[in-house]
Amino acid sequence: MSGPSAVSATGRARAYVAGPPFGIDAVTAVERSIPSLAPGQILVQMRAVALNYRDILVANGVGAWRVSESRVLASDGVGVVVAVGDAVTRVALGDRVSGIFYPRWHDGELTPDKLAVPLGGVAADGVLAEYVVFDAESVVRVPELLSDAEVATLPTAAVTAWHAIAERHDVRPGETVLIQGTGGVSLFALQFARLRGAEVIVTSSSDEKLERARALGASHSVNYRATPAWDERVVELTSGRGVDHVVDVVGGANLNRSMSSLRLGGTVSIIGLLAGTAGQVDTYRFATKNARLHGIEVGSRSMFEAMNVAIATHRLRPVVDRTFEFDDIHAALRHVETGAHFGKVVLTVGGGDGPVGRALRATLTGNTSARAPA
Ligand SMILES: NC(=O)c1ccc[n+]([C@@H]2O[C@H](COP(=O)([O-])OP(=O)(O)OC[C@H]3O[C@@H](n4cnc5c(N)ncnc54)[C@H](OP(=O)(O)O)[C@@H]3O)[C@@H](O)[C@H]2O)c1
Repeated sequence: MSGPSAVSATGRARAYVAGPPFGIDAVTAVERSIPSLAPGQILVQMRAVALNYRDILVANGVGAWRVSESRVLASDGVGVVVAVGDAVTRVALGDRVSGIFYPRWHDGELTPDKLAVPLGGVAADGVLAEYVVFDAESVVRVPELLSDAEVATLPTAAVTAWHAIAERHDVRPGETVLIQGTGGVSLFALQFARLRGAEVIVTSSSDEKLERARALGASHSVNYRATPAWDERVVELTSGRGVDHVVDVVGGANLNRSMSSLRLGGTVSIIGLLAGTAGQVDTYRFATKNARLHGIEVGSRSMFEAMNVAIATHRLRPVVDRTFEFDDIHAALRHVETGAHFGKVVLTVGGGDGPVGRALRATLTGNTSARAPA
């Protein structure tokens, strides 16, 4: 690390880690040294972090999300570049950036290597920290019109929805898309489907949330608690034809109702596991529907960048349900766990105004009272 744009980051900064003995109460604040930057790396002063359902799985140590040692929680956030290592050309000091969920998946088809180190899980630390070191190749610049809280929601939920709606499938004007629930992925899917001219049918356990989803552009809504055979209602709403595309965030045996909701030759994007990772599935129904099943795994950097262009062009605003302070992480996780939210839950990260932030900015600017970059 050298040159005027480099910071000798010798300070310490706070982060929240998840790990044994597991559970939301076991998520703990730690203080860690900010590592020196290797060539190609950048230091980002985090401003906001968004939670995903996956973070509940990591915190609770569920199945494949059970870490063997404590890991910094959460994959999604935004911050400002405050130091750059040698040979960094993609971003500059002061740029507002988000890390990508799969730091090695820049573009093209998935390979085992690209899938290897998702942020905030078994293989790598996450971003719920005052400062995070990223490879410069593993971040994207983010739309200027969005607030920090809005940008923080993008790396997983939005990219996954974009992948399903606009990359793997190509939702066309006039098509009908079924969105399940009103969590993070689902509301982005709703917004992207509308942006592409599709009609949206949304399901939810709450009439109040359904009303809010209609205000976001859904044409029809079904309460899946009040109407357990919601797939039959969806078929009625499409005059017996079925929808063109189902965004399934529930998984397990829910796939049977997704399939029943589908038109002949339609597509199901299988994304979520809210009902678990397995279930008894009527494969005959798949065959007779002549259906396509797309497994969706977040997405690549190039998908993130394409989505950002669409967001900026259409001035699309992510739905932020609620913003918590950094140290209110336990309340924020519980809020997501209970499913009370509509859209995304975000934490603001105030590390930039602590002693480390001031020291870093002073090194950058030579001014000990310097504020964070705008
Ligand atoms: N494959 C991938 O790359 C990928 C990426 C991101 C997320 N995911 C997965 O996708 C799922 C959603 O993630 P998220 O972060 O968007 O979750 P989230 O924000 O926590 O959303 C959860 C919402 O789903 C709805 N829901 C729960 N059970 C349901 C059911 N049986 N039927 C219909 N809706 C139901 C509820 O909405 P209402 O309150 O409106 O009922 C709930 O609020 C999770 O399983 C997550 O692990 C996968």
